[in-house]
Amino acid sequence: MRAERRILALAAGLALLTLVVGCREPRQAMYDQAKYEPYESSELFDDGGAGRVHPEGTIARGRFDPDRAYTRGTTDGGAFITSLPERIEVTPAYMRRGEERYGIFCAPCHGALGYGDGMIVQRGYFKPASYHEARLQKMPVGYFFDVITQGFGRMPAYASQVPVEDRWAIVAYLRALQLSQSADVAALTGEAGEVARAALEDNTGDAALMGVGDDGGTAGHRESSATETATDTEAATDTETAAAADAATTRTEDGE
Ligand code: HEC
Repeated sequence: MRAERRILALAAGLALLTLVVGCREPRQAMYDQAKYEPYESSELFDDGGAGRVHPEGTIARGRFDPDRAYTRGTTDGGAFITSLPERIEVTPAYMRRGEERYGIFCAPCHGALGYGDGMIVQRGYFKPASYHEARLQKMPVGYFFDVITQGFGRMPAYASQVPVEDRWAIVAYLRALQLSQSADVAALTGEAGEVARAALEDNTGDAALMGVGDDGGTAGHRESSATETATDTEAATDTETAAAADAATTRTEDGE
């Protein structure tokens, strides 16, 4: 009876061990299985390669778009296009989309107004050129599309995160941003002129013209937390001052 039990326990133990080992084995085996790595050779095919080339003239379904102006921002000759592609219809809704996408994908580094002073830069990232310097003012729209698509120096590419349609919306908004910082407001006609002049008289000019809201973007947030810190510290009594300042500093760091 005792011996039987012992054998049973041994059998159960063995079964468990097989199970554990069994679970690990196939994983490794799947990794090690017979397969071709990219560009490996093979005797099976006449050309000696394992990978097959597409028959000549094959076109990827649903992905080929011959409109280079739209997909690359260049003419067929490879020069950057100087006005938005024909397929893009600039409407107020499209501009708002551009503003929103710019706020998400570009402002963190380039700043809400494009001076290259976004929060990531304030925190130590390489400072990009301002969109308002003469060189970039003169750059064709195709260039901006290309920078978003391929990246530029230390700036990563955004092609995988921002679809083509949105990239153009960002470019359209970027152009408006450039105009906003250099426009001759007195020469503006129609409603746009009236709104701009009224806003400037109100002394709320910048924010209203830029359409970035009252807080002025990322820099504004930083200033307001700095102001709070100062106010908190002043309100404290002498003995509390140091502690309050410490606490305020910690809170600022945590809150951002
Ligand atoms: C992570 C930070 C970061 C983000 C996000 C970012 N950029 Fe940049 N951008 C840079 C830096 C840094 C440079 C300068 C790179 C260099 O000179 O090596 C730059 C350069 C540029 C330039 C100027 C190229 C020149 O000729 O000087 C343009 C235009 C530009 N970015 C557009 C954009 C747009 C549009 C977006 C949003 C889709 C964007 N960037 C998002 C960091 C960023």
